[in-house]
Amino acid sequence: MVTIAVTAEPENEPRVAVSPDTVKKLVGLGCTVRIEAGAGLRSRFADEAYAAQGAEIAANGAAALQGAEILFRVRRPSNEDIAALAPGAVVVAMLDPFGDRGELDALAATKAKLFTMEFMPRTTRAQSMDVLSSQANLAGYKAVVDAASEFGAAFPMMMTPAGTVPAAKTFIMGVGVAGLQAIATARRLGAIVTATDVRPATKEQVQSLGAKFVAVEDEEFKQAQTAGGYAKEMSAEYNAKQAELVAKHVTTQDIVITTALIPGRPAPKLISADMVASMKPGAVIIDLAAERGGNCELTKPGETFVTDNGVTIVGPINYAGTVPVNASSLYARNLLSFIGLMIDKEEGKLEINWDDDIIQGTLLAKDGALVHPNLTQQAA
Ligand code: NAI
Repeated sequence: MVTIAVTAEPENEPRVAVSPDTVKKLVGLGCTVRIEAGAGLRSRFADEAYAAQGAEIAANGAAALQGAEILFRVRRPSNEDIAALAPGAVVVAMLDPFGDRGELDALAATKAKLFTMEFMPRTTRAQSMDVLSSQANLAGYKAVVDAASEFGAAFPMMMTPAGTVPAAKTFIMGVGVAGLQAIATARRLGAIVTATDVRPATKEQVQSLGAKFVAVEDEEFKQAQTAGGYAKEMSAEYNAKQAELVAKHVTTQDIVITTALIPGRPAPKLISADMVASMKPGAVIIDLAAERGGNCELTKPGETFVTDNGVTIVGPINYAGTVPVNASSLYARNLLSFIGLMIDKEEGKLEINWDDDIIQGTLLAKDGALVHPNLTQQAA
């Protein structure tokens, strides 16, 4: 029987790695699920709700980890977790692979098999395990809701006997998973939506959601997507042309939501201080890239402030964590799908196929060393 431990997350992380729904399914796979008491509370999952689906509730993290072969987390394991981890245990989490390297080395030194969900391959087979998508989708939604709340005016056009209320003009920068959801949500609220991205494939997606595509569409733009479906870092020339276009566009916009990221790199700077200065008073910028340095030059990660010319800039951190019930439910489903690859249901044991591209793609460390090419090549 495989035991999966789930321990409580740090104070700044409201999400949790299992839901009552996934506990039921994990138990169905023949696993024992042992959860630290109170771990799900901030996602509104009570211990009783977990227990009702067959989970064991442990008094603390160390007790949850007793004899466990697998540890499920949202964030990196705590020091207490590491101390209680069985040698060679499987750890599945968002391990922030490009974050604090010393801490990651220390974690690898425990000889745990570390799997990081951020490196999930972007393939059809891995779609149900894709945490970046499940969490970014919620972040894109929440950005629009927060923008609407910060904006001291209405989103939809309203024709009333007392006059017409104009629709809010909303500009979405970066049309990945978060950006697409932001477009859809802003459209549902009745905004006039424009969007930009450097990947040509996004043009049609933007248009199919009823928004207008705004971008410099030159030869470089036509080549800007990697085989993995991500954006490339663009040349200085392209960025200058694009910045000129964006500079004109933002002067007319009420809401700007930025989501542009390049894997393993700082977020590209797309909105300069001068552009902010040219925006209308009352305009709102929500910078979803805040955690990675921000797409706006003025963004302060974790803060909301108003500039001298009256533009509100929001730099959210852990945005998916602000909708923890949904974020945890989806994340838990991602982990359930992933661990399904490793559980031999008939034998009731852990069976890892090291040749599987999903296993290889997410394996960060084993036998005491970091093994993922994204990290070993970076270090070389
Ligand atoms: P991301 O979070 O890495 O980046 C967000 C967006 O920012 C991307 O669309 C990127 O092109 C854009 N961007 C980067 N630099 C920019 C710049 N200078 N100006 C404007 N935009 C810029 O991307 P995300 O959301 O993770 O999605 C990446 C791709 O992966 C998309 O094509 C998405 O559809 C695809 N995908 C495929 C999946 C699958 O097949 N399993 C699952 C999820 C996503």
